[in-house]
Amino acid sequence: MFSFLAIFITALSLAESAYSCSHVGHPGAARRLYQEGLEIARMNNIRRGNQQTTSAAKSIAITNVRVFDGEKLLPLNSVYIAGGIIVPYAEGAEVVDGNGGVLLSGLIDAHTHPASVAHLEVFASNGVTTAIVASCFPATLCNSLLNHAGLPDVRFSGLFATTPNSTHALMFGLLPATQIITSASQAPGFVADQLASGATFIKVIAEAPDFATTLDQATTNALVTSAHANHLCVACHAADYAAVGRALTAHVNQAHHVPTDTPLDAALLARFVAQGTVSVPTLSIFATFLAIGQIDAAGYVAANTSVTRLRAAGVPVLAGTDSHDLPAPFAPPFGSSLHAELELLVQAGLSTVEALRSATVLAAQHNLLFDRGVVAPGMRADLLLISGDPIANISATRNIQRVWIAGVEYAGVATN
Ligand SMILES: *[C@@H]1O[C@H](CO)[C@@H](O)[C@H](O)[C@H]1NC(C)=O
Ligand SMILES: *[C@@H]1O[C@H](CO)[C@@H](O)[C@H](O)[C@H]1NC(C)=O
Ligand SMILES: *[C@@H]1O[C@H](CO)[C@@H](O)[C@H](O)[C@H]1NC(C)=O
Ligand SMILES: [Zn+2]
Repeated sequence: MFSFLAIFITALSLAESAYSCSHVGHPGAARRLYQEGLEIARMNNIRRGNQQTTSAAKSIAITNVRVFDGEKLLPLNSVYIAGGIIVPYAEGAEVVDGNGGVLLSGLIDAHTHPASVAHLEVFASNGVTTAIVASCFPATLCNSLLNHAGLPDVRFSGLFATTPNSTHALMFGLLPATQIITSASQAPGFVADQLASGATFIKVIAEAPDFATTLDQATTNALVTSAHANHLCVACHAADYAAVGRALTAHVNQAHHVPTDTPLDAALLARFVAQGTVSVPTLSIFATFLAIGQIDAAGYVAANTSVTRLRAAGVPVLAGTDSHDLPAPFAPPFGSSLHAELELLVQAGLSTVEALRSATVLAAQHNLLFDRGVVAPGMRADLLLISGDPIANISATRNIQRVWIAGVEYAGVATN
């Protein structure tokens, strides 16, 4: 059972479902959210204007640190930053003593829904330096999260693709008249709209087929074909066994969430492997649902078992949280939930190194962010300095000492 509230939360901060200029009819809820979104966007843009006069990347030498190279911790050494980039050496750099700590590539949350600059600040304070926004609304708001100096880098999908009468649409209070996408012939237009709004990937919703109103297989296939024709990857919400099958049949690139009904089995896992599909399990949202009674213990066990099996099958697993702008305990909090996600992935059977890779090198590669994810010359200087050994104990990622984003240190890191 993927509960109503589960879907509601997914839809709410996605806050997006309905609006597009090419579609008529904005029911009350969508119009209100649209207007609220524009107001938040206006404030975000004012904040960006203020930032531009301040932070500039200095040359920095971070000494006395053990770098996580994607596989292991290297011996104590120094890492240099110049012009926002990691460089082999920088003459006259300002020295920052790393005190024997571990330097990680900045963390990437592969599924989240920030709306404001304040959310980006919480990410930064927790060492999350890239946010993959798995749908947002309206486009003005999505774009207002981009290019904030010294704050996390944001990539977004824009609207998710769903049908007017889907559970995702209806639970959000959208009327059937609100056209989102109803047939395969609309797929090219939907993808073109998202691309024009600044989306760098496409988000599609697969719901269980017993909800007769969800995207059918042909429309899902057409969305993926259109996205790929535009060189966009597709992330697909699929939180039940049947939906994962539909996502795989459509050849999505990333299956987001994992089933809470029947765990992934050998048949589906073989398809992940054969097609090179990656998984973003978002155990954090399922732990949240378990805590508030929206799934039962068996539902969480199914999710956890799916992750155990994904790992055993060699499917790349990316760390994502589904963090939302809802008060605790109704959604995973921004930032800190990525550290919780790493712990949950380890509890599901990933090694600590695999968990670290899920939020760094793998998350970067599979989101086509080839300028980050590893601490190496030429990469963006997105860095997280922690104390303790995260390979010995994944919870050490919470011991945040310092954070740099494109070489700009974020003042005011979290104490977890
Ligand atoms: C959505 O549901 C309404 C009310 O049941 C129905 O009139 C409408 O045709 C449905 N739309 C689609 C696209 O299925
Ligand atoms: C999650 O999976 C791991 C590895 O299979 C297992 O040890 C653990 O007990 C599981 N936890 C839950 C809550 O099912
Ligand atoms: C990891 O560290 C946390 C926080 O200090 C501690 O609660 C936990 O027991 C440790 N886990 C292991 C496996 O040592
Ligand atoms: Zn989500």
